[in-house]
Amino acid sequence: MVVISAFDETDIADAYRIFKTGRLNPWTYSTFEKSALNDFSLVAKENNNIVAYVLLSSVLDESTIEDITVDTQHRNKGIARKLMEASFDLAGKMQQQSIFLEVRFSNNAAINLYRSVGFEIIGERKNYYDTAVALDSTTQATQKNAPAAPRENAYVMKKVL
Ligand SMILES: CC(C)(COP(=O)(O)OP(=O)(O)OC[C@H]1O[C@@H](n2cnc3c(N)ncnc32)[C@H](O)[C@@H]1OP(=O)(O)O)[C@@H](O)C(=O)NCCC(=O)NCCS
Repeated sequence: MVVISAFDETDIADAYRIFKTGRLNPWTYSTFEKSALNDFSLVAKENNNIVAYVLLSSVLDESTIEDITVDTQHRNKGIARKLMEASFDLAGKMQQQSIFLEVRFSNNAAINLYRSVGFEIIGERKNYYDTAVALDSTTQATQKNAPAAPRENAYVMKKVL
């Protein structure tokens, strides 16, 4: 059974390991830790092992989903949907009016997840994300007059609570 709770300090290292898997340009441990140890972020555990987390922040009555990640071996079992629903309950209790997020144009799994729990696309941010090419410093260093490396656009999505 999956159990959802607030982050404890002892959860950070395992959650950070899940976070780093497959990330092009991951946050530092301390940035991740600050985001995890606030009043909104949640972890999901199965048999006392962390299998997923969601990081949220809040300003006044607006929340932002900073990140949600499910361990690769536990995907497609409804865990992200459960975490999102738990986040909405918590945000509602904390008098939040709406939740925002950004997501890569190419991240179909996340876009489908967000749509399925009631988020709508409200805008775009151009060149918002790094890409593997943009991070390849060898390419940039050896091609001085080459055009800027491509970056990826983001959708901005919103859910009214
Ligand atoms: C996106 C992610 C969080 C989904 O987690 P998950 O636990 O596998 O998702 P769930 O099983 O709860 O699925 C909920 C819905 O998401 C969508 N979805 C999930 N995985 C999908 C996939 N591979 N392709 C298309 N849609 C997908 C579906 O709409 C699904 O509903 P359905 O099962 O009724 O079709 C997970 O793939 C992940 O951790 N990805 C890497 C990190 C990431 O990209 N995070 C988002 C940052 S913006």
